[in-house]
Amino acid sequence: MIKKCLFPAAGYGTRFLPVTKATPKEMLPILTKPLIQYGVEEASDAGMDIMAIITGRGKRALVEHFDISYELEHQIKGTSKEELLRTTRDIMDKCTFTFTRQTEMLGLGHAILKGEPLIGNEPFGVILADDLCSNDEGENVLAQMVKIYDRYKCCVVAIQEVPKEETYKYGVIDGKEIEDDVFIVSNMVEKPDPADAPSNLAIIGRYILTPDIFRTIEETKPGKNGELQITDALMNHAKKGMVLAYKFKGKRFDCGSVDGFVQATNHFYAKMKKEEK
Ligand code: G1P
Repeated sequence: MIKKCLFPAAGYGTRFLPVTKATPKEMLPILTKPLIQYGVEEASDAGMDIMAIITGRGKRALVEHFDISYELEHQIKGTSKEELLRTTRDIMDKCTFTFTRQTEMLGLGHAILKGEPLIGNEPFGVILADDLCSNDEGENVLAQMVKIYDRYKCCVVAIQEVPKEETYKYGVIDGKEIEDDVFIVSNMVEKPDPADAPSNLAIIGRYILTPDIFRTIEETKPGKNGELQITDALMNHAKKGMVLAYKFKGKRFDCGSVDGFVQATNHFYAKMKKEEK
């Protein structure tokens, strides 16, 4: 059973300035729910109940969001507004939230390593909350990945086909397909130029990691942009054992970009309207 999910959330969100000047990017709303809550709900629906959030300076709203607001709740008690807080209260009842800080922005691999004291010696999920995933036809993306993990007991990364000219935005894998949509990773490159990309299979912000990844991260040297990349650590891991890449079912919105954010808003708005009918 995978019980814990890590949320690296210390980044600055510079693509969304000025709103991210004093507001964590993970608190930007799609309709009325912040991105981080979509991620936490996905992890909870995938069976995880300990949420380990890696925060940084100026990110206190993330902690407050998952705590009781007595004054506010007293104000709205017994009114129709109470219902608006229900999803947040539900998730707070189901889950335990733990937090630590990443004091320096040294890369995603570094952020994940900072989570080790919260995770300990067990497999765990990782969600990058600005990759908002939605599967209207069935299980959510992390739940699909847990099933792959249960069968193979190794690290699993989510992948999606992207246009070749966009590989420079992603970690990109190469591998051998061993069953429908499941690949054994043979190569992994962080943000390659399209000409150097080993394929058009891009890593999306969902991972299942085994705790030995922490030692591999420590052995990994800084890569792209001088940052400690989880992509490089997973490549090193793949040399020692098996790493799988899973082409998930569902949609993914890049809510770290204005285009993706607006598309996500439109998608969830249309869904809400359909459900209201
Ligand atoms: C991170 C990872 C990258 C992955 C991407 C998915 O990059 O480093 O491998 O493809 O998330 O969103 P970031 O977008 O944080 O620069």
